[in-house]
Amino acid sequence: MAQPSRKLKPLPHKHVLYERAVQTPHHEAAFADRVYRRLNGRPASRLREDFCGTAAIACQWVRRRRSNTAVGLDLHRPTLDWGATHHLAKLPANARQRVTLLNRSVLSPGPGTGSMDLILALNFSYWVFKDRPTLLRYFRSVHRSLARRGVFILDIYGGPDSLEELRERRTIGGRKRGFTYIWDQARVDHITNETLCHIHFRFPDGRSIRKAFTYDWRIWTIPEVRDVLADAGFSRTTVYWEGDDDRGGGNGVFRPQKHGEPGKAFIAYIVAQR
Ligand SMILES: C[S@@+](CC[C@H](N)C(=O)[O-])C[C@H]1O[C@@H](n2cnc3c(N)ncnc32)[C@H](O)[C@@H]1O
Repeated sequence: MAQPSRKLKPLPHKHVLYERAVQTPHHEAAFADRVYRRLNGRPASRLREDFCGTAAIACQWVRRRRSNTAVGLDLHRPTLDWGATHHLAKLPANARQRVTLLNRSVLSPGPGTGSMDLILALNFSYWVFKDRPTLLRYFRSVHRSLARRGVFILDIYGGPDSLEELRERRTIGGRKRGFTYIWDQARVDHITNETLCHIHFRFPDGRSIRKAFTYDWRIWTIPEVRDVLADAGFSRTTVYWEGDDDRGGGNGVFRPQKHGEPGKAFIAYIVAQR
């Protein structure tokens, strides 16, 4: 007897999986808010999310206060469109009109992208700039786009693991109903510090989405980035280092530190003041 064909549920969209695996827009918006307030004694209102992708943080930012506005910049129109449908359209009308998404390069941001209180470049996206002159050009442009007392926040990863060709797996949402996120450092070049990384997703029924995202990056270090920020005109940079969870991992709490203790891998924020 012929077996009835088993109809498989469609897999979630890769942006849904990406956001569940590597983004916590609520935390990122709260962190930026806290840092700005700590430095300036008043809340920020105008935020720009560079390399915004689906603009999850920009949309979260305008939910926080009625006075908040956000601009998102990304080169990839289909990703911006996905964000417009899945995040922007779900905001209440009064919040939606305070978000502007622009299909532009962060290197030439253009009209409507200046006088910002906060500019964010997260998930290491500025690593797409592989040489110092281009990184400096980007940081100079960010500096020009900030209002007086404006703050630029970037994240960075490092440690010996970042220089290895390796795969890191994490199960998200439980073994049976969730999925596995795989961070694949497929190539690392110790002369140029260039790296080719992929994100794959695997599902409990055996299906997978291979190379859902690919990043062709240069690995930058904290001292290098601080150096370029200083050359771009930033008056002060501070590293926010993650605390320990006492089990060999990070606890998700980032505080200003002058020195970073050794470990196999870290993620940190660099906060640059105009
Ligand atoms: C790693 S994803 C970041 C997505 C999201 N912002 C996050 O934090 O997870 C990098 C994004 O940068 C965009 N991108 C790459 N080069 C860019 C450029 N020069 N200007 C604007 N966006 C760029 C890509 O289209 C992609 O959406």
